[in-house]
Amino acid sequence: MEYKDKLILAPMVRVGMQPTRLLAAQYGADIVYSEELVDKRVIASVRRVNEALGSIDFLDRGGEQGGRVMFRTTPEERPRLVFQLGTADGATAVAAAQVVANDVACIDVNMGCPKQFSTQGGMGAALLRKPEVAEDILKALKRNLTIPVSCKIRLLDKEDPRDTVELARRLAACGISALAVHGRTTEMRPREPAFWGPMRHVVDALAGLPVIANGDVMCWQDAVRVRQETGCAAAMIARAASWNASVFRKEGFLPLDQVQREFVRLALRWDNALPNTKYCLKEMADAPVSFPGRRGGVRSIVGHEGNTSITQARDYTQLCGLMGLGPQSPYPDLGDDAAVGLPKQAPAPKGPKGPKGPKGGKGANANGGAGETADKAQGQGQPPAVAKETGTAAAAEESKEADGTCNGGGAKRKREEGDEAGREGQPGAQEAEVHSG
Ligand SMILES: Cc1cc2nc3c(=O)[nH]c(=O)nc-3n(C[C@H](O)[C@H](O)[C@H](O)COP(=O)(O)O)c2cc1C
Repeated sequence: MEYKDKLILAPMVRVGMQPTRLLAAQYGADIVYSEELVDKRVIASVRRVNEALGSIDFLDRGGEQGGRVMFRTTPEERPRLVFQLGTADGATAVAAAQVVANDVACIDVNMGCPKQFSTQGGMGAALLRKPEVAEDILKALKRNLTIPVSCKIRLLDKEDPRDTVELARRLAACGISALAVHGRTTEMRPREPAFWGPMRHVVDALAGLPVIANGDVMCWQDAVRVRQETGCAAAMIARAASWNASVFRKEGFLPLDQVQREFVRLALRWDNALPNTKYCLKEMADAPVSFPGRRGGVRSIVGHEGNTSITQARDYTQLCGLMGLGPQSPYPDLGDDAAVGLPKQAPAPKGPKGPKGPKGGKGANANGGAGETADKAQGQGQPPAVAKETGTAAAAEESKEADGTCNGGGAKRKREEGDEAGREGQPGAQEAEVHSG
């Protein structure tokens, strides 16, 4: 795998599912990471070729009835796909990696998750304090796999690079192909600016091993800047990509509503679980006002004001209606005029029942072709009731966001601190919500 001058979609629990990865790649991401999946869960999964979709599915619970899709990919995605493992020991890591190794390009070990769920089990950031265990894991993976192995760490100190450099040296000596460095310590909250300074020292110390810079890369220009300032081979983007995946475009952001609609198309095509699709759309809609890639979103049905509607969508047919993707959408044009003219309460007409949306994960083989579902959804979708009027709020948002700048560390979170740290490598959330539908 080549890392020089590459743009990378970061691993993100619940966000880094197939539609996000495909969308990021479509917009210019060279390498995409899966969300972190914990080794034991991977070992318990079963690989199935989904002929209807043209995908490769890994199903929970040994693929038995009701087993949900844990991980879905395609042969086309393989050359750029890094599978991230949560693990605390070498033997289990190897067993898990072998389940997916034929379908991905690289195995990455998460050594940065600060959540108690991870650390109390010896995974994630716990490995930063136990370098001998981290070494064991990487060496075991190297011995037993033919594909490359990498890992992702955090800074051990935000200003003094020495401990981080020492750890990086030890990990590099295990034969990894790349090292991603998140420019925050385990204790730092996501809203605190990332430190790029220590990364330069890691790059210098590792002499030739690709180092991937991560933290506060909020636009394409930031990705250039972080490579210039640190000498890192590649730049990795997390939150900005979850808010607007077109962050990977050299030409700049696309309007958020366009990106949201493209996301729904991909989700439908690949039969992504509806709760996960809605979750990702809400992430986009909730992008901070100061985030430059948020422009366009406020004019969208699924912009900030549309959250209620997203939550209420019961199936893909409704979601498509909301997104203006079907001929029966109440909003055929989502431009400015359409937003201003939105009805307060669009009536949900009674009519023939539309097709049920894909269940995304209820045993992939039972889902049928998503393409067929998409066609039906577009042809017969019933316009859903829309909860809120957006015109005035949109205008207010528009003026608020005017000062949004791309400053590499300045995009403020609207949500409270610890939010994404709270989700980083949090399989519990995956279990509970992503696969609940
Ligand atoms: C929603 C979300 C989920 C995340 N999940 C993971 C994960 O599964 N594995 C991991 O190594 N880091 C995870 N992270 C951390 C990111 O990969 C990244 O290190 C961090 O957000 C800093 O990058 P940014 O400033 O570009 O957001 C997650 C972050 C977010 C926002």
